[in-house]
Amino acid sequence: MEFSIKAASPEKHKTDCLILVHCAGSEAAPQLAAIDAASKGQLRRLIDRDLEEKAGSLLALPTLPGISAERVLVASLGKTGAIDAKALRTTLAAIGKWLSGQKLKTASFAATDLVAAGFELPAALRSASTLLSDACYRFDAIRSTPDDKPSGPRTLEFLLQSKSDAATRNACEQGAAIAAGQTLARDLGNLPANYCTPSLLAETAKSLAHEYKLKIQVFDREGIEKIGMGSFLSVAQGSQEEPRFIVLEYKGGSAKAAPVVLVGKGITFDSGGISLKPGEGMDEMKFDMCGAASVLGTFRAVAKMKLPINLVGLIPATENLPSGVAVKPGDVVTSLSGQTIEILNTDAEGRLILCDALTYAERFKPAAVVDIATLTGACVIALGHHTSGLLSNNDELAGELLGAGQRSGDRAWQLPLFDEYQEQLKSNFADMANIGGRPAGTITAACFLSRFAKSYKWAHLDIAGTAWKSGAEKGATGRPVPLLTEFLLARCAG
Ligand code: BES
Ligand code: MN
Ligand code: ZN
Repeated sequence: MEFSIKAASPEKHKTDCLILVHCAGSEAAPQLAAIDAASKGQLRRLIDRDLEEKAGSLLALPTLPGISAERVLVASLGKTGAIDAKALRTTLAAIGKWLSGQKLKTASFAATDLVAAGFELPAALRSASTLLSDACYRFDAIRSTPDDKPSGPRTLEFLLQSKSDAATRNACEQGAAIAAGQTLARDLGNLPANYCTPSLLAETAKSLAHEYKLKIQVFDREGIEKIGMGSFLSVAQGSQEEPRFIVLEYKGGSAKAAPVVLVGKGITFDSGGISLKPGEGMDEMKFDMCGAASVLGTFRAVAKMKLPINLVGLIPATENLPSGVAVKPGDVVTSLSGQTIEILNTDAEGRLILCDALTYAERFKPAAVVDIATLTGACVIALGHHTSGLLSNNDELAGELLGAGQRSGDRAWQLPLFDEYQEQLKSNFADMANIGGRPAGTITAACFLSRFAKSYKWAHLDIAGTAWKSGAEKGATGRPVPLLTEFLLARCAG
């Protein structure tokens, strides 16, 4: 979806669809009032009769007398007084969903009325361009013939009453950049494991590097061995498919500024290994690289936005499969940090690849490290599918991420990393075990990672419940690209 901003009178503007927002219980905002006047009060009568007052309720009008638009869509923001950022997101998502089912070339959003509703125009347009294009996402890369169902307008115009300023135009572009990042994350997540291999993730990183002039290094099995990532390699050893370790660097900040490092879990298929998972729903373990995909998506967004920040992306990528040469329960491996790990369950593989990447992160003297991983089924039990898990060794960093989640509508919730939980990782044979038993599975997984993240500010996002949807709407969500980009935007502003 392409976005543009235009100064125009809404009633005279030619478009396939004019989108208006409505606040119940207050005087009509200027653009809505203009349409109402042009239609001789018809709009008001229809709204009063048919539009519910709940945020996200829609009224689609095939025609309206006296105006140039072919159709009009009125979306309720809810009752005046209760209209907040969440109501706006709900409304935008509803508009996006409706648009995604329409055959339209152009839709035009009367955006000045958002200001009358109490929103700051730049922030509102950033949300709008992200949410509207995300709602019109389609995945048909691997169908023999593309779905010819409509997928929303090609162009979306934001109509303003007066000329836009630079901040508004910039925010609109930022929204589109975030959506482009989220789309990449969704595409990679949705690709099955026979397409989305560790090599494909590396090739994707390379094309990002080429497009945006990023520094990139890709290590193969031999290279990973040379670095000394014994824990990562133990997961990869059972698979024919070559592993990759990807190091991406975006330098938008000053040469001296310490980078933020993003580490993404890139298990392109998680069968559990020798500790094999049950068969039902195992196809969904193709999504076990969504952490990696969110890192690549965030790089795309950040590079498009040209953010003044230094960013490093680290992606350990491999399959987790059983075979005659696969790692076995009871095996002890040596991580890059030198700490030894007794692998009691080969299905707790995410932490085994992440720990070596976390040690590798030390060499960048990072300002902060955030890892993103579909790490534990326990997180889905704790928080369900709406909220990502957050654990951190630094409360300030945790606060930044929680705030970014709140503002972007891509929320996380913090769980404790109290020392007491560390005891569950005791091993009789090595420095630690890779599992901590049934209680507090998300916390003990993070405790494991924390042992490799002692020398910097670190946070861990467990996205097991939020990275994809199951059931009829099965597919990657592109989360937490909105949270991560908002976190980085705020770091640039502050
Ligand atoms: N990728 C899974 C976590 C997962 C499971 C995400 C289900 C989403 C849905 C991870 O590698 C895993 O298998 N974790 C185990 C850890 C256990 C063996 C300690 C789990 O959660 O069962
Ligand atoms: Mn697993
Ligand atoms: Zn996994």
